[in-house]
Amino acid sequence: MTGLLHVVGARPNFMKVSPVLAAGTRAGLRQTLVHTGQHYDAAMSDAFFADLGLPAPDENLGVGSGSHGEQTARIMLVFEPVLDRYRPDWVVVYGDVNSTLACALVAAKKRIRIAHVEAGLRSRDRSMPEEINRIVTDQLADLCLTPSRDGDRNLLAEGIPSERIKLVGNVMVDTLLSLRGKARARQVPEALGVAGGDYAFVTLHRPSNVDPPEVLAELLAALDELGRRMPVIFAVHPRTRQRITESGLRTPNGAVQLVEPLGYLETVSLVERSTLVLTDSGGLQEETTVLGVPCLTARGNTERPVTITEGTNRLVASTRVAIGEAVDQVLALRRDGGFHPGQPEGWDGHAGERVVAALRDG
Ligand code: UD1
Repeated sequence: MTGLLHVVGARPNFMKVSPVLAAGTRAGLRQTLVHTGQHYDAAMSDAFFADLGLPAPDENLGVGSGSHGEQTARIMLVFEPVLDRYRPDWVVVYGDVNSTLACALVAAKKRIRIAHVEAGLRSRDRSMPEEINRIVTDQLADLCLTPSRDGDRNLLAEGIPSERIKLVGNVMVDTLLSLRGKARARQVPEALGVAGGDYAFVTLHRPSNVDPPEVLAELLAALDELGRRMPVIFAVHPRTRQRITESGLRTPNGAVQLVEPLGYLETVSLVERSTLVLTDSGGLQEETTVLGVPCLTARGNTERPVTITEGTNRLVASTRVAIGEAVDQVLALRRDGGFHPGQPEGWDGHAGERVVAALRDG
């Protein structure tokens, strides 16, 4: 019987492992779930396990926060004995967080096969720590499972042989489609007093946006301005909260509500009915595409180009002026006929099954 050891560590991993675990269970595979503990706050971790109906991890390595070197090293150190204990056929890693890279590196040295789910995405921006994690993980992986064709092309261009590349589609979309109804029932717009009219949903946490005080100041000014046009719900990541406090910047007021990081169902409930989303998250670019909600991504590049070419996403500079202009354009476009859900190839709710099929065949 094929044995899979799935590694998760940070918030965006949890919705990706969920459909793969479920498909593995249906296929009768032996499965182990390891949580590195990269994210540990209840709002960043436990809330997602509950919302997604994930089983408690078999192992929680409790690594916590640190510099990149420190966090990655600590994960490697504590993961190695766990891998020795379970000896799976495959280590399955997800996305681009430090846990993904650290565990892939340990497995590679032990000659245990690695499958990388969400392989091949490239921003071509090495100042983004995730880009380093993606490049190295894909080089180490025995099987690169891609969410879209651009991923296949990127991998081929980096010399990865085609036998190691398989397009499976987007596992996060499986989760979104299966939990959309449950999310809607949460009625979060009602609870936050924004139901029935325009409102924007905002998340910002990338170091490039929140670490330099001058960039953070521009973004907070943009929110102030947006708040004068419509109510804004700003779900504040712990990193962002810390940076706002350290910088002494004034938080936007008026119609901008700052709330703690939201769970998965709460987030989907809010996004689905929002007028627009302003974010620097990877996952939200994809979720808004599937839900047909306009998304402004406050970044100079994206590793998820199909959300622009086939979806509702557009890049915007992290300045008050650029964001203001982009909001105007979104509102004008909406008056002219609106936005339609995008469904890139393989974003169909069955990617988890294709991952498991690839691993059983492999
Ligand atoms: C990580 C991922 C990023 C992902 C994001 C989603 C890497 C390199 N980055 O970034 O790709 O988009 O998760 O959230 O892996 N903190 C808490 N509680 C927690 C977790 C973090 O307070 O549960 C604080 C700590 O001060 C920590 C900081 O947030 O130092 C950053 O956490 P970290 O895991 O290093 O990176 P993220 O910015 O969350």
